[in-house]
Amino acid sequence: MSTLAVYPGSFDPLTNGHVDIISRGARLFDRIIVAVLVNAEKSPLFTPEERVEIGRAVFRDQPNVEVDTFDGLLVDYVERRGAQVIVRGLRAVSDFEFEFQMALMNQRLKPKIETVFMMPAEKYTYISSRLIKEVFALGGRVHGLVPDTVETRLRAKRSRGKGA
Ligand code: PNS
Repeated sequence: MSTLAVYPGSFDPLTNGHVDIISRGARLFDRIIVAVLVNAEKSPLFTPEERVEIGRAVFRDQPNVEVDTFDGLLVDYVERRGAQVIVRGLRAVSDFEFEFQMALMNQRLKPKIETVFMMPAEKYTYISSRLIKEVFALGGRVHGLVPDTVETRLRAKRSRGKGA
């Protein structure tokens, strides 16, 4: 049986920490779906469509990585896609409490779906989408922390006077 995993998140924007987890997941599972949550934040920096475009561009050479959107309950999406595993990244102990709660709630909702936690490479453990947005908005350098296409799009938004 082939194993299909779902890596859900906001990905606003995709960071190199996310890319690292997805690449690890793509080696571990037969296929991994990067599932972008729609309608989470009222004013995201990137639209869900932009986030999907970014993910597809970054993983265009990896046929076992799919990028999709979802809304509603994650476990319903996972079941609908016929996946068995939810992948979440753990960067630090501070992530643990919320991740533990989510994993147990998802387990209660659909006991057959397993959550698997993966650690990114140490050099990415301090990166978060929130910090990337803040640092970039205040003129800091984010090169090497996000894929090049994200950096280009951040600059384009800034030059158009939008958000970052
Ligand atoms: O990147 P994020 O914001 O940490 O991802 C959080 C996400 C999308 C995984 C979580 O908010 C989620 O699963 N939302 C979908 C709604 C849902 O199923 N909520 C119950 C989770 S226990």
